[in-house]
Amino acid sequence: MLSVHQKRRASSFSLRILTYSARVIRRMHLAGLNRLASAIENIKINSINLEQRGNRLMWVKRRQLGSGVIALFANLFFLLARARLHLLINLRRWQSWEVACFRLLYGQTLEVFPEGRRTVCIGMVPGKSLREWVIESPFAIQAIQAAGKELRRAHGLWSSELGDYWSHGDPHLENLLYDLESDQARLIDFELIHDKSMPDIKRHADDLLVFLQDLMGCVSAEQWVPFSLALIEAYNEPQVLAEVRSRLTAPRGWSAIWWKLRTDYLQSGVITDRIETLNAALSLDSNSCAALSK
Ligand SMILES: Nc1ncnc2c1ncn2[C@@H]1O[C@H](COP(=O)(O)OP(=O)(O)O)[C@@H](O)[C@H]1O
Ligand SMILES: [Mg+2]
Repeated sequence: MLSVHQKRRASSFSLRILTYSARVIRRMHLAGLNRLASAIENIKINSINLEQRGNRLMWVKRRQLGSGVIALFANLFFLLARARLHLLINLRRWQSWEVACFRLLYGQTLEVFPEGRRTVCIGMVPGKSLREWVIESPFAIQAIQAAGKELRRAHGLWSSELGDYWSHGDPHLENLLYDLESDQARLIDFELIHDKSMPDIKRHADDLLVFLQDLMGCVSAEQWVPFSLALIEAYNEPQVLAEVRSRLTAPRGWSAIWWKLRTDYLQSGVITDRIETLNAALSLDSNSCAALSK
């Protein structure tokens, strides 16, 4: 069996929550707690490997032993932060949600199936992560526009599991892959789920904010506004945009912790500055649109 393990940063959001808790513990400078913090930082909810299935390579995502405890901890954090997100703890339900999302978004174009009790096998989606395109390529804007269009398309699909329009829950830059040849972005990783009780406009705005927050954490001040506008203009949905704008305010309390986690620990001053510059650019944009329509 061929197995290629991917080395990457702790991208899954549940891990970032644990890492954040570990950092808080570290700041307490207690030897025993420091060891606990290191242990927390090394926990992973899933393993993901490229493995041979029949005559093709597939991504094999496996829930680790003990993942239920991490999921419980993360869900508690979401509850306290009033985030209206959750991880599925029941393994069967998690498998069937991942499979259902891939089938909804990809139709017959991608092979996906559950295997055993804690594994899902997924065909290879072409392209590189949006993070890679955004950080080191002349095609960053093109990749972001494709991501905006794909999010809009996906948000227009009906999910029978949600009984409403679909949303991703965690579309940060590593959960979107962009393929230059087809100029197509695609979503992967359906680990985090919005609560059903959240209206579609709010869930869709939340998805856009997750993308923007991750973008904020990895681009320069000069790139921040043009890159964000590329996403918003490609997504092009006034109601969702209005909801996003209502949430572009200097974060306080739990919301500040949330922004820190989502921006990979940017300084609070930088976060506030960038929120303000984006708001100013969006106002300018809507004023010029209004002037053009007169
Ligand atoms: N179907 C796929 N096609 C291409 N790459 C994939 C696929 N599934 C996973 N990967 C790669 O593995 C990484 C981790 O998978 P993901 O499903 O996002 O799990 P995690 O919850 O650990 O983030 C992705 O960021 C991507 O690089
Ligand atoms: Mg992921």
